[in-house]
Amino acid sequence: MDVKKTKILAVAGKGGVGKTSIAATIVRHLTECYPDKKILAIDADPAVGLSTALGLEVTTTVDDIRKEVVMTVEDGDTRSAMELLGEARYRIFDALVEQDGFSFIAIGRPEAAGCYCKINTYLKEVISILSENFDYVVIDGEAGIEQINRRVMEKVTHLLLITDSSRKGTQVIKTIKKVADELVMYDKIGVIANRLPAENVKDFMDIGDIPVLAYIPSDASLAEFDLKGENVFYLPENSSVVKGVKQALQKMQIM
Ligand SMILES: Nc1ncnc2c1ncn2[C@@H]1O[C@H](COP(=O)(O)OP(=O)(O)OP(=O)(O)O)[C@@H](O)[C@H]1O
Ligand SMILES: [Mg+2]
Repeated sequence: MDVKKTKILAVAGKGGVGKTSIAATIVRHLTECYPDKKILAIDADPAVGLSTALGLEVTTTVDDIRKEVVMTVEDGDTRSAMELLGEARYRIFDALVEQDGFSFIAIGRPEAAGCYCKINTYLKEVISILSENFDYVVIDGEAGIEQINRRVMEKVTHLLLITDSSRKGTQVIKTIKKVADELVMYDKIGVIANRLPAENVKDFMDIGDIPVLAYIPSDASLAEFDLKGENVFYLPENSSVVKGVKQALQKMQIM
């Protein structure tokens, strides 16, 4: 008996290496390849960005819902995310944005300075609850290792480690891999080396024994798109990011 298993893809890596662009491009490929499947994009980065890359507008976030629930429930502040969710499970669906071919939800930006732990606990449950209703989930993670450490990514089945050619970038993905081996129940893991300034730099990149899914050269058209505020659905089929991400998805047997 083969029960349906949702494929949960997530991108992780150092800041500014292309996580959001790649997550958005994954969503584009999935919607084009699987028009009949249920696809969900999650912006898990409090700094936001995935919505813009996908060309949509967000009105309600998971954090808005959390705040409302906390306000309306007595002792809301001191009760666990799980308890609160029991009472507000269905409310989560209010934060979903329906697009052509996919749905979208954003974690939002908690105003309180410092700790994102509360919203991260909440987010982990939200991923769990929503995943049951979708065939594919694509998560654009926060830069760095925090969300892996806090087990927010626990249920991820396909973990894409994104790096540029910098030493810092490759160090971060090697650290993430080590922690993910303990804390993420992934089926497949791999690296996308992005924004490579030249063909030969890949020979000098130290990514240990993690399989490489794609090398993506620096693509001037992407920067131009970014400047103009255009979304990934307008990127030409033959742009290096669109081609590279497709290759990565094929290597992971997602497409
Ligand atoms: N292959 C590429 N070639 C050229 N520019 C790229 C490439 N990939 C991404 N970029 C550009 O790099 C910048 C950062 O990309 P992006 O926002 O996707 O990174 P990020 O990892 O999500 O950053 P953050 O950690 O801040 O969320 C953007 O301006 C994007 O257009
Ligand atoms: Mg980003």
